[in-house]
Amino acid sequence: MIEVQNLSKTFNKVTAVADINLYLDEGESIGLLGPNGAGKSTTISMISTLLPPTKGTIKYNGKDAVKDPSELRRDLGVIPQEIALYSELSAYENMKFFGRIYGLSGKKLENKIQENLELVGLKDRQKESVDTYSGGMKRRINIAVALMHDPGILIMDEPTVGIDPQSRNYILDMIRDLNYKKGLTVLYTSHYMEEVEKLCDRVYIMDRGEIIASGTKDELKSILSNEDTVKIKVKERNDKFKDILSEQPGINRIYEEKSGYNLVIPRGEQVLGEVFDAAGKFEVEILGADIQKPTLEDVFLHLTGRKLRD
Ligand SMILES: Nc1ncnc2c1ncn2[C@@H]1O[C@H](COP(=O)(O)OP(=O)(O)OP(=O)(O)O)[C@@H](O)[C@H]1O
Ligand SMILES: [Mg+2]
Repeated sequence: MIEVQNLSKTFNKVTAVADINLYLDEGESIGLLGPNGAGKSTTISMISTLLPPTKGTIKYNGKDAVKDPSELRRDLGVIPQEIALYSELSAYENMKFFGRIYGLSGKKLENKIQENLELVGLKDRQKESVDTYSGGMKRRINIAVALMHDPGILIMDEPTVGIDPQSRNYILDMIRDLNYKKGLTVLYTSHYMEEVEKLCDRVYIMDRGEIIASGTKDELKSILSNEDTVKIKVKERNDKFKDILSEQPGINRIYEEKSGYNLVIPRGEQVLGEVFDAAGKFEVEILGADIQKPTLEDVFLHLTGRKLRD
């Protein structure tokens, strides 16, 4: 459906996106996962045909969408990272305004407004002006606006950042339903690993302008198939305890967490004996020890040596 090849964007001397390849098939839900500054928004802006690439091609149904963006533009609903609504107008008025831009009018426009308000759960608040809404409600209206022209592809740039957990869950469930039940193709951008984990079939992991890994969630996690993570929760962290564990041959790496340590060990290795010995020696109180299946966060950490978020 959409095919991106060797796409790059350079601003002055900063390379925001460096030679990336990605594709989107009809009905898929794709995640673009990466930390701040990875190049996610720049990528999205280029795919949304709002920003011309420095290099590379974007094809939509086989046709060059950089040269002629009209067809792709018609089929896209874009939810930008910044809220794009008229704050002094009501939700209803915003939707009416944008619906008209998309060429809707009369009964059709009215029906679509009510249908989308229902979808985002804000039908009863539609007459109030947007500046009286919470951040989460503004996001929901932004989504309702982006869906006014019945796009086949929905592109979202971190739509859950800085909003309350209730709105966040509402939005995630809604997007999942749109993808599962209505077959909407979704490109979802986030630096929250758990959102991508919940929503997306395939994932592109982006860092410093490059796509450093891609595949289904299982494929990505199989990068770590020969390792396990043991999560040790302690009452108080202790550097000597950490140092002695990091010298153990059965422990590949140790990452410090707020609540304790994550020990990365070869799959099947037994290390709890050593952990409890060391804890006894340095009077570290252990509150829990769990073996964890790898997450996309672990994959990112493994590939870059850094966390998605600090
Ligand atoms: N208009 C611009 N002019 C100059 N540099 C830019 C511009 N837009 C983005 N950049 C730079 O490109 C890099 C990637 O930015 P981008 O906004 O695409 O990252 P992001 O992954 O969306 O980050 P975030 O998670 O913080 O939104 C950054 O170094 C940024 O400073
Ligand atoms: Mg961004």
